[in-house]
Amino acid sequence: MTQTENTAVSFTGAVKTYGAVRAVDGVDLDIGRGETVALLGRNGAGKSTTIGLLLGLYEPDAGAVELFGAAPEHAVRAGRVGAMLQDARPVPRVTVAELVGFVASRYPAPMPVARALDLAGIADLAGRRVDRLSGGQVQRVRFAVALCGDPALLVLDEPTAALDVEARHAFWASMRAYARRGHTVLFSTHYLEEADAYADRIVVIDRGRIVADGTGEELRRAAGGSLVCVDLAGREPKTLGLLPGVRSVEVYGDRARLRTDDSDATVIALAGLGAIRNLEVSRASLDDAFLAITAKDDAVEGGGTRTRTTTQRPLPPHTPETV
Ligand SMILES: Nc1ncnc2c1ncn2[C@@H]1O[C@H](COP(=O)(O)OP(=O)(O)OP(=O)(O)O)[C@@H](O)[C@H]1O
Ligand SMILES: [Mg+2]
Repeated sequence: MTQTENTAVSFTGAVKTYGAVRAVDGVDLDIGRGETVALLGRNGAGKSTTIGLLLGLYEPDAGAVELFGAAPEHAVRAGRVGAMLQDARPVPRVTVAELVGFVASRYPAPMPVARALDLAGIADLAGRRVDRLSGGQVQRVRFAVALCGDPALLVLDEPTAALDVEARHAFWASMRAYARRGHTVLFSTHYLEEADAYADRIVVIDRGRIVADGTGEELRRAAGGSLVCVDLAGREPKTLGLLPGVRSVEVYGDRARLRTDDSDATVIALAGLGAIRNLEVSRASLDDAFLAITAKDDAVEGGGTRTRTTTQRPLPPHTPETV
């Protein structure tokens, strides 16, 4: 197969603006067929806008977006894409089975409605009116709608928002089963654990740009693999930032938190600066990595309790080919 035939999704320098807001600001992204990718970002990071571009709901102001080597509209019309959007409202008066059946009928090779309802965990809601369901039930109906056409590419914008714990587990089990059959899945989320647990690859978006791209482990490493916490004890935070391995220094009161690529080298050098008090060394969590990646350009946060005194090195450029 050629590169294009292997690629499900391709963004090249894609830009989408809303007035002065650059919601998507130069995104380059390739997703191979069969990959499960999480699009991770804070509120307003540009996840839904990226998904809107991907589905051809809007045209990019610059750059290009392709699905399976052609314009998104082409793939959508051909029934190769199923989507669950963030702000879709249920249609009034129809039943769950009617709605899913109608959507399925628009696809060339849909799965049986009963199977879609089953996968979404709503077989018992088949005869219920769509506009008389709870928020979580509607969410599951939307999952059934996205799945029922048996699309090659499944796009889910915050699929687990509003789901309870049990429904969340059931949802991920269904999504994994779907992905294992060779389908491509892109889902957006705020939840790191979900991204880490259920995606082959995590793409972090912030202010409309991709700021990291890799597995959970690669993200942890890119953000600085370990944390060394120690009392400042009169030391200058700037001095600590120069120690070997250190990527950034945060100061909380009299305590410094060093993010380091090499905690051994950092601690040995720290000892060389004099007495060490209250030393703690821990592995950076994915949460830490996410904060480090997305907060690095933020202004110093208020109150003086959290001072970012950093000699922060840039993250390596995102390298989709390594994952
Ligand atoms: N229709 C619109 N008109 C104007 N600005 C918009 C519109 N839609 C989104 N934006 C802005 O574009 C930026 C990206 O929004 P987007 O909805 O893509 O973020 P998101 O990552 O999906 O956020 P969330 O996690 O809250 O869903 C935000 O600054 C948002 O305010
Ligand atoms: Mg969104």
